[in-house]
Amino acid sequence: MNTLPIGIFDSGVGGLTVYRALHNKLPNEHFIYLGDTARVPYGTKSLATVERYAIENSEFLASRGIKMLVVACNTASALALPKIRERIGIDVVGVIGPGGRKAVELTRHLAKPKVGVIATEATVQSRAYLDAVKRVSETTRVFQAGCPLFVPLAEEGWTEEPETRSIAERYLMDMKIFAPDALVLGCTHYPILRDVIQQTIGENVILVDSGEATADEVAVLLAEKVLENPKTATGRRRLCDDLDHFYVTDAADRFSRVAERFLGTKPSKLEAIEVFGIDELAGK
Ligand code: DGL
Repeated sequence: MNTLPIGIFDSGVGGLTVYRALHNKLPNEHFIYLGDTARVPYGTKSLATVERYAIENSEFLASRGIKMLVVACNTASALALPKIRERIGIDVVGVIGPGGRKAVELTRHLAKPKVGVIATEATVQSRAYLDAVKRVSETTRVFQAGCPLFVPLAEEGWTEEPETRSIAERYLMDMKIFAPDALVLGCTHYPILRDVIQQTIGENVILVDSGEATADEVAVLLAEKVLENPKTATGRRRLCDDLDHFYVTDAADRFSRVAERFLGTKPSKLEAIEVFGIDELAGK
């Protein structure tokens, strides 16, 4: 069991920011990543649809043999975690709880802490981050804003462009009035735009990367459950090496290109698959 990989799924390529955080934190672990590129985006879809996609993705990864499942997609974590947990007989970790808890931890010392959350429309509407924060701190005030255009901008690699800056200004206008102490990057893609978000919201606001917070909690959980991989690989691993296996449900070439933009390297092992029937497509 300990040498099995950790499964990660996302609606597409954005979850690679969570993969990077997990890989950096846990160099002994191997990962299987599924990007549901055929059905992305999830952030504009309904609860029923996101639940169905999330269950199919989880069952695909479980069928490959994994010891833990990380739901890297914020939208799927916000909407579908209970349904996934009902169906999958292993530990399932989402990104919302860790992101919310980290924001509270970083602002707890303040008299009247204020936490901002930026995310997809579906994540904002679900109020999952709000609930996650309130569960650990009743008194923390939370303000949320949807920033849907950040997803394509990150995938285009427009991290410095004036267009991105003006979109960030517009999206974060009300957030600036709220003046959060910490701002949760509640979508897989937003760490790619970290610099422009930080400059727009102000250097005094702490940015919370949900992926990094999740990696910290996964490390603790692995230790608690005595599930750590005992094989020491420190120093020999690199992102996307052939110990990690990547699957997509469509457009493998585009995934590879954007992966290189996000991580500086392409997956060594990348396959296109069909998650609805779990039939692998030949030759990809
Ligand atoms: N991965 C999604 C999330 O973190 C963003 C992209 C999408 O809308 O599917 O919410």
